[in-house]
Amino acid sequence: MDKIVIDGGVPLEGEVSISGAKNAALPIMAATLLAPGVHRLHNVPRLADIRTMKRVLGLMGVTFEESGGLMGPPLPEGALLVDTSNLTGWMAPYEVVKTMRAAVLVLGPLLARAHQASVSLPGGCAIGARPINLHLKGLEAMGVKITLNQGYVEAKTKELKGAEIILDFPTVTGTENLMMAATLAKGTTRIVNAAQEPEVGDLASFLVALGAQIEGIGTDILTIHGVEALSPAPYKVMSDRIEAGTYLAAAAITKGKVAVTNAPVAHLTAVIEKLHDAGVRCATSGDRIEVQPGGGLNGADIKTLPYPGFPTDMQAQFMALMSVAKGASVITETIFEDRFIHVGELKRLGADITISGNQAVVRGRRHLSGAPVMATDLRASASLIIAGLAAQGTTEVHRVYHLDRGYANLVEKLSALGARIKRVPA
Ligand code: UD1
Repeated sequence: MDKIVIDGGVPLEGEVSISGAKNAALPIMAATLLAPGVHRLHNVPRLADIRTMKRVLGLMGVTFEESGGLMGPPLPEGALLVDTSNLTGWMAPYEVVKTMRAAVLVLGPLLARAHQASVSLPGGCAIGARPINLHLKGLEAMGVKITLNQGYVEAKTKELKGAEIILDFPTVTGTENLMMAATLAKGTTRIVNAAQEPEVGDLASFLVALGAQIEGIGTDILTIHGVEALSPAPYKVMSDRIEAGTYLAAAAITKGKVAVTNAPVAHLTAVIEKLHDAGVRCATSGDRIEVQPGGGLNGADIKTLPYPGFPTDMQAQFMALMSVAKGASVITETIFEDRFIHVGELKRLGADITISGNQAVVRGRRHLSGAPVMATDLRASASLIIAGLAAQGTTEVHRVYHLDRGYANLVEKLSALGARIKRVPA
């Protein structure tokens, strides 16, 4: 298993281009099941989670091509052809769902296309219990019969029917599953208290391109009028706001001068505002955000919330930044109950952090110092990389497979910005 070794203390400088959004590409790949034929997707990031979704869909008879040749001329970087003509299965097994919870996104599309699905329950997860009860309750309202059998959700329906669904919490993948199922249901579905995350909007735009009828995209009430059939359409996946935010935090912690390009600027408002509060100067223009070395870093409080609030997926990275800011910061996590697992590792680098329930108080230190640390989940790993870039001496981040799930070419991108970082066998 590889590790990442960083010699910290180098201000980052240069330009970094943001890849396609993992959390938009995954539901869009699942949604291709709804429309038999060949789909041409663009800006799909090359990530472990994307390969896992290909494995899941592959078990259902879906085939892929990303270099071109077989289905036509060579394909550009980030393109992915998905052939969903033949559906031969409807099961997402435990071996896959346990490594990537987003595999549950096949549930809605399979019910719409094959009227049945068998999906392993995701079970526990490093950042909390993460149940799927709201997905299932919404599907039941649409006429799906659900039974639990040996850890699997067995779902069947004669016909999906439109329904009024009020979500207790604006679950992201839950909203996506229900919206996908509703596109081919008989009648109209209204999802109230829907998640407003931009990735939900990107999926909705893809579904509309396939021929779906959806109103209220980007709001908390989605109205979906079911149609008879959908057909393939080319689509470019939005760029990744969390990857962009991670590079902004990396630039800020090293007091660097970095331009983040191809960034979904409009979707980063809460993150950019917090960076401003912390004294980080960010200038935006088009799809470009420039971080400039300014005065010192100041402590700032954050509270994670559903979009458009501050994203939980940026909490760990912001905590790393606050660990070298002047003064104290209070970080409140409201989305996931156990999302402070990075704290112990940040402390090994010298951070001063106290946890009480869902709040962490970070007292900024002048310096962090390099140490071996263990990555525990995707965003926690990113926070350790950010801390390592600022720490004095050498930081070794172990279990880097977590990073491979969500950051395309991380080491290459940071090296190009001047970081002393390498990936080596552990
Ligand atoms: C998605 C993102 C993840 C992000 C999260 C919150 C993808 C693939 N993943 O995860 O990166 O951190 O949104 O922005 O898009 N809940 C229930 N019952 C349910 C569903 C959720 O109680 O049926 C709870 C969860 O336990 C959690 C909260 O709702 O406390 C938010 O979860 P949810 O929005 O569903 O997150 P994911 O869709 O899993």
